[in-house]
Amino acid sequence: MRKRVLRTKLCEMLGIEYPILSAGMGPNLLGEETGSPVDLVVAVSEAGGCGVLGASGYTVDEMREKIREIRQRTDKPFGVDILIPKKVTQFGDPGGGEMPLSEFLKALPREHRDFVRKTKEDLGLPEVEVMIKPDLTTFLPDKAIEVCLEEKVPLFCSGLGNPGFMVEAAHEAGVKVLAITGNTKNARRMAESGVDLLVAQGHEAGGHTGRIGTMVLAPSCIDAAFPIPVLAAGGIGDGRGVAAALAMGCSGVWVGTRFLATKEAGGLDSVKQNIVNAADEDTVVGTMFSGKTLRAIYSRYHDAWYESGLESLPFPLQALIASDLIAAFNEAKMYDYVGGFAGQVSALIKEIKPAGEVLMDMVDEAADILTRKLPESVTVE
Ligand SMILES: Cc1cc2nc3c(=O)[nH]c(=O)nc-3n(C[C@H](O)[C@H](O)[C@H](O)COP(=O)(O)O)c2cc1C
Repeated sequence: MRKRVLRTKLCEMLGIEYPILSAGMGPNLLGEETGSPVDLVVAVSEAGGCGVLGASGYTVDEMREKIREIRQRTDKPFGVDILIPKKVTQFGDPGGGEMPLSEFLKALPREHRDFVRKTKEDLGLPEVEVMIKPDLTTFLPDKAIEVCLEEKVPLFCSGLGNPGFMVEAAHEAGVKVLAITGNTKNARRMAESGVDLLVAQGHEAGGHTGRIGTMVLAPSCIDAAFPIPVLAAGGIGDGRGVAAALAMGCSGVWVGTRFLATKEAGGLDSVKQNIVNAADEDTVVGTMFSGKTLRAIYSRYHDAWYESGLESLPFPLQALIASDLIAAFNEAKMYDYVGGFAGQVSALIKEIKPAGEVLMDMVDEAADILTRKLPESVTVE
């Protein structure tokens, strides 16, 4: 079959064949059994999209190694995504030196420590030594940005915060800058601060998410950020979603959950399977994982947290609690307490497939819809 053409100005900007980016997804709390974030980036970029490395869980040095590994494995464009929190001084230490998580937990309020202790006791969970690395990119965003510019990554993505302050330096290094927003006000601010690309990430999305649905957010951000190209994110899992995004005026799509349920993505097999099994009401938004609103597949950890009646601690302190417990749930193989970060689009995902196949299926279906195959019930003249 002849290869399909699906191009937008995003393809020209990034030097890619199809306007589909795999979203930056941190090697979250849940570990890796099969695949790895680098495998996914390479697979997506090789297939003609743009793979984006979620670097929020790596140390600055690890991130540099991963960037170099990607370069060894593909000569195609790719991106790197970090989180830029407002306040990180309580953890950041470029000197490295791992610290046991239990040391950090001591500084948390007594009721929160009691929740961790009691949950472990009640469920008979094993003690698992989790080590915190103070030189994670999330704790040292300035250092991480420096490395991305030194390495001249083709696309720098900021998963949290406005990266406007580093756009000039990025452009001098030949690096394009992408920002992610969950509302129109920030889209306007980010566009004014000079970013090259904007992702409008709707409420449906997996991981940290806002309150506005993709269907409203994407066109509203397009209007607010004009002429900056906008990519739609949240709820896109097949060619119908891609076609809808392009029809709304988006220049491309930023796809997370669908690329997580692939052979190459890093993640627990149980989490990938949870995505395949999930129906449309099986994901929920809560602050118990990180302190910020985050969409995950419903699990018994949600229940345990709500039953405690506690308020979540601010980002990223709450992540210490979740990390400690989830490490223990995983060790005990109590996977009903570990749903996994994922979006509503899980309902459309029926199979774990190679990432290149996911991408090409999206391209084929979107191209069919946009050229001739509108559903039969639609008449247009
Ligand atoms: C497991 C997981 C981890 C994520 N981690 C990050 C991250 O580290 N940085 C970031 O910018 N976005 C992160 N996100 C959000 C994605 O970048 C993306 O916006 C979202 O997945 C899009 O919605 P979808 O899941 O419906 O495709 C994560 C999403 C998931 C599912």
